[in-house]
Amino acid sequence: MTRPVIICHMISSVDGRIVTERWTPPVDGKNRDAIINQYFDIEKHYDADGWIIGRTTASEHFVKAAEPRKGSTDRFPRKAYVAHTSAKRRAIIMDPHGRLQYEQPDIEGDHIIAVLAETVADEYLQSLRDHGISYCFAGRDGHDIGKAVDVLGSTFGRRKVLLEGGGPINGAFLKAGVIDELSLLIYPGIDGLSGIASSFDWMGASNEQPASGQALRLKHVEKRQDDVIWLQYRVERSGP
Ligand SMILES: NC(=O)c1ccc[n+]([C@@H]2O[C@H](COP(=O)([O-])OP(=O)(O)OC[C@H]3O[C@@H](n4cnc5c(N)ncnc54)[C@H](OP(=O)(O)O)[C@@H]3O)[C@@H](O)[C@H]2O)c1
Repeated sequence: MTRPVIICHMISSVDGRIVTERWTPPVDGKNRDAIINQYFDIEKHYDADGWIIGRTTASEHFVKAAEPRKGSTDRFPRKAYVAHTSAKRRAIIMDPHGRLQYEQPDIEGDHIIAVLAETVADEYLQSLRDHGISYCFAGRDGHDIGKAVDVLGSTFGRRKVLLEGGGPINGAFLKAGVIDELSLLIYPGIDGLSGIASSFDWMGASNEQPASGQALRLKHVEKRQDDVIWLQYRVERSGP
């Protein structure tokens, strides 16, 4: 099975936190948003054929969320549904409960793939089909990242995908051991508050080590304009 290469691409404060509005302003009255936009410049550099975000990030930036629908689960097989075969880039959204209420089939031209739990109601799948939205499943509870990644490669033909947060979804991919590369921009500012979301926030027990068996090899470091640092690491895996 051919999985896509997965590059986790994030921008964080120097203390690793990712809620951009909270960061200290740049020096000399520079424009914060212009600095943060370097994130999107580097995104283009990767020329990926998809990008992945978690349900919360999607509802903050792109799509309204609602309570999951209840209903039957026996009308549609729990198999991937491909609404568009020609889409070059895909917006892949991890929404296990089917909370997102899409009004169009794409985000800024990138056709959507909703990654769901098998337990979502048929009525929700029908609404995705009605809106021309592709979907697939990440196991019964929607948290089987390995399964979702396999389908993105085999059914949707993805070869290189950016994983773009937030922390819980990045943490789940880290725990599943499917991240091949980390692309991290360090914004020249601080958040400073305990408990604020970071680049990886696996929602596990306090004795778990979601990055266990993985090590980072530095590939590239670049001092960019306005004191931004760009780090690229290859993730190397050891053990089973
Ligand atoms: N600086 C950056 O580069 C960057 C990038 C992206 C986001 N952000 C920021 O990060 C914050 C938002 O994101 P967030 O951290 O709250 O969440 P998130 O990672 O965007 O979404 C988490 C949600 O994804 C769903 N999910 C799907 N599969 C999952 C799995 N296997 N494990 C866990 N969750 C899974 C769950 O939805 P349900 O709750 O429906 O079950 C979960 O609550 C925002 O402030 C956003 O602006 C920053």
